[in-house]
Amino acid sequence: MKNNVRSRAWGMHLVLAVVVGLLASQLLLAKRAPSTPEPAVEAESESATPWGGDYFPNILLTNQDGQQVRFFDDLIKGKVVVINFIFTSCSDSCPLETARLRQVQKLLGDRVGKDIFFYSISIDPLSDTPEVLKAYAQRFQIGPGWQFLTGEFADITDLRKKLGLFIDGVDNGRNKDHNLSLIVGNQSTGRWMKASPFENPWIIADQLANTLQNWKQASTGESYADAPEIRPPSNGEELFRTRCASCHSLGPLDGQGIGLRSIGPDLIGVTRLRDPAWLTRWIREPDRMLAEKDPIAMELFERFNKIPMPNLRLDQAAAQSIIEFLHEETERQQPSVAPLVSGTDEPAIAPSNMSQVQ
Ligand code: HEC
Repeated sequence: MKNNVRSRAWGMHLVLAVVVGLLASQLLLAKRAPSTPEPAVEAESESATPWGGDYFPNILLTNQDGQQVRFFDDLIKGKVVVINFIFTSCSDSCPLETARLRQVQKLLGDRVGKDIFFYSISIDPLSDTPEVLKAYAQRFQIGPGWQFLTGEFADITDLRKKLGLFIDGVDNGRNKDHNLSLIVGNQSTGRWMKASPFENPWIIADQLANTLQNWKQASTGESYADAPEIRPPSNGEELFRTRCASCHSLGPLDGQGIGLRSIGPDLIGVTRLRDPAWLTRWIREPDRMLAEKDPIAMELFERFNKIPMPNLRLDQAAAQSIIEFLHEETERQQPSVAPLVSGTDEPAIAPSNMSQVQ
């Protein structure tokens, strides 16, 4: 019996030793990370980055104004940058990324183009000429400091590989499915990280304005990380924040002032305005309804700068929970039966706290 207990205790020690050993070797590996040519890993030292001019291809690209630039020398050398890959005929992920980055650009204000630079590079360079890219940027009302670039297909593929934003096997020239990730980084310190377009725009803005700048700007007491307080959201609200709020506001107090969510129509009241079946189908397959020239869809498409609402590949349950959230938020902001307010001057409509929706 005693023996048994002791051997079990030894067994535990052995397991612990193995775990500790594994952790230690992981740490050692991590320490050696800078020697691996993988830009998505943060570099150890601030000064010597392994990802300099001999790592990044200095390919020739053309921006939306027809100017020719070199990727390393002109676009990233010594700069804090955001880079993503798009194609303008994309009907799902790219408009979401563009809309999200547009919010980040608005939050950063005039720092964009001064100490933070935005680049969207086309992976369909044959169709995406500078003129097409310019029209795309104008439809999204993109501000200055953000370049849309095209170039040679082979060069761009090479660049995607170097940035770790290329999925092998998927991209065979016909299938334009591409990696969702954006990459943000500071070339001189060698800090590069992937970001998701579903990320809160305040967080991406904070990385660009503070983290990646090594906090070199004296704190003004105001931080981009000061995103409004967040309460635990329902599933529908969470989906709305990550998939829809880059383009749609919900009510007059929801970020319309600085145009943070002005690409599509405001959605307060939409559950009352539209037939439920129409609404569900639209949220799930707007691209097909536009292709079928659904009259309501066409009228909205014309009104909203001909930016097609993307197909976000939501299933029935997800669409339903978003609709429930839209319904609840409409009821909250515009109760269908005004509550009886006796003896006070309180407004019947509760003040919105929707500013927390990103
Ligand atoms: C990239 C921007 C973008 C994203 C992301 C987006 N939409 Fe849209 N949405 C639009 C645009 C633009 C329109 C207007 C129609 C058009 O141009 O296709 C629209 C129209 C709509 C309408 C019709 C409004 C009406 O008056 O009937 C609804 C409803 C809607 N969107 C819901 C959603 C939901 C829900 C999501 C998230 C799952 C979402 N949208 C994500 C851009 C977007």
